[in-house]
Amino acid sequence: MAVSVVLGLQWGDEGKGKIVDYYSASADVVVRATGGNNAGHTVVIGDKTYKLHLLPSGLFQDNKTGVLGNGMVIDLQVLCKELAEFEARSNGSKVFISGKAHVIMPWHKHFDAAGETASGIKKIGTTGRGIGPCYEAKANRSSAIRFYDLTSGERFEKKVQEVYNLLKPRFEQTGFTLSVAQILAELEPLREKLAPFVIDSTNFLLNCAESGKEILIEGAQGALLDFDHGTFPFVTSSNPTIGGAFTGTGLPHSGVEKVIGVTKAYTTRVGSGPFPTKLIDADGDYLQSKGAEFGTTTGRKRDCGWLDVVALRYAVKINGVSELALTKLDVLGGLEKIKVATSYALPNGSVTSDFPEDTAVLAGVEPVYAEFNGWGNESLLPEWEKLPVNARSYVGEIEKLAGVPVKLVSVGPERTQTIAL
Ligand code: IMP
Repeated sequence: MAVSVVLGLQWGDEGKGKIVDYYSASADVVVRATGGNNAGHTVVIGDKTYKLHLLPSGLFQDNKTGVLGNGMVIDLQVLCKELAEFEARSNGSKVFISGKAHVIMPWHKHFDAAGETASGIKKIGTTGRGIGPCYEAKANRSSAIRFYDLTSGERFEKKVQEVYNLLKPRFEQTGFTLSVAQILAELEPLREKLAPFVIDSTNFLLNCAESGKEILIEGAQGALLDFDHGTFPFVTSSNPTIGGAFTGTGLPHSGVEKVIGVTKAYTTRVGSGPFPTKLIDADGDYLQSKGAEFGTTTGRKRDCGWLDVVALRYAVKINGVSELALTKLDVLGGLEKIKVATSYALPNGSVTSDFPEDTAVLAGVEPVYAEFNGWGNESLLPEWEKLPVNARSYVGEIEKLAGVPVKLVSVGPERTQTIAL
């Protein structure tokens, strides 16, 4: 089996779309394993910018097979829109949807918004796409609707009615007013469009792997947003770490040849929760504006800060990362000094190089920084030897501090602005 996995190592938005597009050139099958349209993956080809929330980014390469894996939660409307754009490109690629993937229903989006409003200042800062409530239904089972339920109009109607009846008290409590008839009127045309794409995805992927096809599993979000290993409760509701790649596809760990971890050359975060290296100064504003750090999904301004190697090492270890893809190196150009957090000082005066697992402890740490000389603001050519010497030595330092080799450096959004090492 030849399986590669691409995972985000920070709080999402690492530039995975571009990296997946790059590695997909040599893959036959590209699979999204987790999450939903809380993700926003950008791929820039020539003068065209594409943004995907659900379809695997690898589908921009010609003649690929894309699979929306069983670990995903999917908004029918968003998927139909992306499919229409994908079909219009007709690049020889095709796509399938796991029958085990879960459907985001209109009430999930309502519950997401209602939950955030009720939480007030303690809100998670979700993307508001109904992700958490849909995974909640999956865990709860009786109120879950899967893509298999979409395979006939009759089965879907029965399921919607059944779940609707079950959730009535919660609808009344939270002010959800749509009727079953209204919901079906909106969703039935989408169901009809999507039903032919539904497959037994795990058997399909296992057969692909056993027949020698190269498979690339595409992660969404990032390790620090992991439901189990991230900064709980300020996390997403799935596992963007390596475990999610397996549970979200059914492919076995034994087939994995490499785990590519994607990290920006600095750090960003959107939503609530601790962010030790966050900058509230001119350098932070510089990164935000030069890096165009706005959420692809929500348009929210992302907080920016220095690269946090304490967090990066943790993400490398829990994922078993074999190599790094370093993105947005160009954004650091023009800064006189560049800092990297190498350990954390705790309020009791001790210093740790371990990432605290208790979010309350993480919220109280002070980063201890190493400082490097910057380089000029000129645009960077995608050739290693032509990078400014300080940019090359910054990459070398990250490699040493993270403990894994950097195999890909991205120096701009375009597909060709990529250096393979
Ligand atoms: P949810 O996934 O919409 O429930 O949001 C939970 C947290 O994860 C919030 O802080 C979101 O901002 C964050 N989040 C979810 N998806 C992404 C992503 O793709 N990039 C960055 N942050 C994300």
